[in-house]
Amino acid sequence: MGILENKARARLFYKYLSRVYDRINPFVWTEEMRADALTLLDFSDDPTVLDVGCGTGFATEGLLEHVEEVYAIDQSEHQLEQAYAKFGKRGPVHFHRGDAERLPFATDAFDVVWSSGSIEYWPDPVRTLREFRRVLKPGGQVLVVGPNTPDDPIARRLADAMMLFYDEYEADRMFKTAGFEEVRHAFMGPSYSPEVAITTVARAPE
Ligand SMILES: C[S@@+](CC[C@H](N)C(=O)[O-])C[C@H]1O[C@@H](n2cnc3c(N)ncnc32)[C@H](O)[C@@H]1O
Repeated sequence: MGILENKARARLFYKYLSRVYDRINPFVWTEEMRADALTLLDFSDDPTVLDVGCGTGFATEGLLEHVEEVYAIDQSEHQLEQAYAKFGKRGPVHFHRGDAERLPFATDAFDVVWSSGSIEYWPDPVRTLREFRRVLKPGGQVLVVGPNTPDDPIARRLADAMMLFYDEYEADRMFKTAGFEEVRHAFMGPSYSPEVAITTVARAPE
């Protein structure tokens, strides 16, 4: 398990990274990647949407191009402060501070649960995905963006020492074990590394 797959360490990490997150983020997670990921979801019928690990609100901003309001949660008060500065504390985004593994929402509350760039910090991804399934309505859509396993064995060892990196087989296993159906994956990335991210979409059983 990587050093940052620990909630307290991830919180400490983001206490400092939050100050520069929006300047660094575009090198690995671009507006084009976000737009590509958004095309994998069906936004017809005005879905209720939750953004887990919303951070400074980069993906929330993309989601708001498709829906009027978004529920958003993050465990880092420092990341959330940056997001409040963008959207206001009480605007189109309903913010919560809390843990992805124990979401403060009712069962069957959402049509869509989105999470980008957060799974790599979760100590028990299957448990967290089960929690996503709990808050999703039957047939609801989940979308998770995470880091793809590097091909180079040395880079892979370094990556694994930091946090969770995974391929489509591992993504398949995690989502199916968590009870999701219709699991599919897409790879995306900036031009210099077009497969740096793996995006998985799936549905909660009807
Ligand atoms: C790389 S940032 C991604 C931010 C945003 N989703 C985006 O697309 O730019 C990862 C975020 O996940 C949050 N996070 C990590 N573990 C979490 C957990 N267990 N519960 C809630 N948020 C978590 C971090 O605090 C951080 O803000």
